[in-house]
Amino acid sequence: MKVLVIGGGGREHALAWRLRQSPSVTEVHVTPGNPGIESVGTCHAKSDYVQIVQSLGIDLTVVGPEAPLVAGVVDKFRSLGLPIVGPTAENAALEGSKVHSKRFMERIGVPTARFAAVTTETEARDALRQFLLPVVLKTDGLAAGKGVIIAQTKQEAEAALSTLAFPMVIEEFLEGEEVSFIVLCDGKRGVPLEPSQDHKRIFDGDQGPNTGGMGAYSDSRIMGSAMRQQVMDTIIEPVVKATAFSGFLYAGLMMTPQGPSVLEFNVRMGDPETQPLMMRLESDWGVALMAAAQGELKPELLQWSPEPSICVVMAAAGYPGASQTGQTISGLNDVPNGAVVFHAGTKRVGDDIVTAGGRVLGVTSSGVDLQDSIDRVYAAVDRIHFEGAQYRRDIGAKGLLK
Ligand code: AMP
Ligand code: GLY
Repeated sequence: MKVLVIGGGGREHALAWRLRQSPSVTEVHVTPGNPGIESVGTCHAKSDYVQIVQSLGIDLTVVGPEAPLVAGVVDKFRSLGLPIVGPTAENAALEGSKVHSKRFMERIGVPTARFAAVTTETEARDALRQFLLPVVLKTDGLAAGKGVIIAQTKQEAEAALSTLAFPMVIEEFLEGEEVSFIVLCDGKRGVPLEPSQDHKRIFDGDQGPNTGGMGAYSDSRIMGSAMRQQVMDTIIEPVVKATAFSGFLYAGLMMTPQGPSVLEFNVRMGDPETQPLMMRLESDWGVALMAAAQGELKPELLQWSPEPSICVVMAAAGYPGASQTGQTISGLNDVPNGAVVFHAGTKRVGDDIVTAGGRVLGVTSSGVDLQDSIDRVYAAVDRIHFEGAQYRRDIGAKGLLK
């Protein structure tokens, strides 16, 4: 079958890379793609998705980022009878609006932090009195992972009221380990992918501002089978049932002493979680995705390697603020065997690949155990250079303590 992937970041590079290795897939197309993706599929400049699908005879479309989902690409495709993996615009609001998502969770009884939804500064000031410190403030709409402020003091909370846009959710701060629990759904049931963990802060030791994600690892030991079943029973299944959800349902969980609590839902795969997950996937990705699009998903369609895998994001100077672009990247072809460099913010200029975004590359490797995958991924990172590159040295390190 011919598959189209919508998007052009590291997540889409990883999706296309795995699809290229799927026996069921004959052609991989990506729009808009990026210079790294050119090595695994044909990239098409951004244009009307339906037109691309009809002119190329695409059999299945997979949507990477949230924006086209929120804009209704799945509704459009379904109305034309074109198979696509992703949720409807109505269901995409689970990610597109934090206020909607929190109210929905409250209504169907999914565990989540206590919250207040506010639309004005006066309401926000009133609400802040009902929460202890630290307190979490979240802007309602899509913000590429940058719409959340964790205020340690009353002053920081008040300052956040002028930094973040209204409407806003104010919520209780939860403590624990975060887990990205991503489930492929077909409208009736969900099959979980392996657990993974993102590293959201810019600096080692979880210091500094939040980013879109500076690295992720996947290891089956992140969550045992009893807890996975509990998350499926108390969080995923109620959502799938209430919404007939199809596509990727990503529950960002905080594992609190009282049990798993949902920090957020995303309606797509995570970036960078997709990179290590695709490295661990062993079964035919094209077959699993087609089954999800057709409402015929089965657990046995997703098979995983036991080897842990890690993605280290190399970001541009300045990220997560305004990032420097146009720096030449060297060493891309010198990484050790087994490591894969997924491109995110890159551009081709003549014979060079240069930086063109905040998150530039996702260097990814697996290993026989977590320490081995850490050693391998950093051996690859050490080969790659561009001016001002920022990356964390501790991706996956917390997993060693388990
Ligand atoms: P979100 O976009 O809602 O996932 O928030 C981004 C990040 O902020 C999360 O991955 C957490 O690290 C942190 N965060 C969000 N909500 C909370 C909360 N209620 N308690 C503690 N940390 C949170
Ligand atoms: N890595 C976090 C996200 O994709 O939202």
